[in-house]
Amino acid sequence: MNAELPSALAAADARRPRVMVLFGGRSGEHAISCATAGGVLRALDRERYDVLAVGITPTGRWVLADEDPDRWAITPGRLPQVEDAAARVQLPQDSTDREVHLVERSAVPRPLGEVDVVFPLLHGPFGEDGTLQGMLELADVRYVGAGVLASAVGMDKHMMKLVLAGHGLPVGPFVVVPPGAYQRDPQAVTAQVEALGLPLFVKPARAGSSLGITRVDDLADLPAALAAAQEHDPKVVVEAGIVGREIECGVIGGRAGARARASLPGEIVVDHGKHAFYDFEAKYLDEASVELACPADLSPEVTRRVQEIAVQTFEAVGGEGLARVDVFVTPDEQVVVNEINTMPGFTPYSMYPRMWQASGLPYPELVDELVQLALERPTGLR
Ligand SMILES: Nc1ncnc2c1ncn2[C@@H]1O[C@H](COP(=O)(O)OP(=O)(O)O)[C@@H](O)[C@H]1O
Ligand SMILES: [Mg+2]
Repeated sequence: MNAELPSALAAADARRPRVMVLFGGRSGEHAISCATAGGVLRALDRERYDVLAVGITPTGRWVLADEDPDRWAITPGRLPQVEDAAARVQLPQDSTDREVHLVERSAVPRPLGEVDVVFPLLHGPFGEDGTLQGMLELADVRYVGAGVLASAVGMDKHMMKLVLAGHGLPVGPFVVVPPGAYQRDPQAVTAQVEALGLPLFVKPARAGSSLGITRVDDLADLPAALAAAQEHDPKVVVEAGIVGREIECGVIGGRAGARARASLPGEIVVDHGKHAFYDFEAKYLDEASVELACPADLSPEVTRRVQEIAVQTFEAVGGEGLARVDVFVTPDEQVVVNEINTMPGFTPYSMYPRMWQASGLPYPELVDELVQLALERPTGLR
């Protein structure tokens, strides 16, 4: 028997888990992702975790990134961006290997050490939509957040509504316009959409940050709205406008098989004199015209209902780790689900962390909890 083995194993166990903070990426939300990474890099407790910062450039190259949180802050007039580098970071290539490498053309790959968990802080396509999650599954690496299917379902507003409706959850009336359908038969699509009434919300099926979304108050504006949505996705979802307050609720996975937990809800209060809805400008460029009220001023009964629907929505899509569920609460206190975001905005000032702060889980503890949830979950089919 090898007497050295047990102590070697003990040493490996005692090693701090190594977290790869992964950010940037190919979507329009690159800079927001960098800002989020700054927040997480600052919050990760170095007594408990080793950290490896990896950035993805706008063209998709994985590079070693600066671990200094200040480098990634959004400051007036400067949007952070992951800069290109000759050497790229490569994940383990098979399920028996944990080693990450730095690879440069015609050079011997340099080992960067083992990674225990990846924290993918990416929003939108190629980050939040299951593509990256599939890559991590193939590499057999643990990661924070939703898996392949939940990410893909959460990203596609059409599939999301089908799954939620299939679980009996309340979604509003909608019509799907498949690629090319309007071009083939504009009258038929217009007739279908007309039945929804006005106003309409015309959206790309897979986007985010309100990109490509138009509120339509006159059917004559439908063709332009469809074209704007199709710039982001050939598949379009047209929804009946819902009159109601915009309420959001944080969800975090349960520990050791327990049920997922919901935060206190928050409310998005948009100055409708300035913005017709919570559009891109209101989200990022004119934040003075938006108030994030947290917790939202709701009765205990409505709060409980929003929380229950948020957890059920998370479960319906097979969520893991975290999600933010956005609903409308109508004047007669009906709750209608608008969407689930499997990687919500996550800077310390974003709604998701603020709702958890208001619920007794401050930002550093929230980050820690998400890493622990990922470490506790197995790789492979689960
Ligand atoms: N059916 C609807 N009724 C009323 N307002 C809507 C509706 N759909 C979207 N909105 C408005 O548009 C915003 C963005 O829509 P959303 O579906 O959340 O897209 P994104 O995924 O880009 O955030 C919402 O926050 C809300 O202000
Ligand atoms: Mg939204």
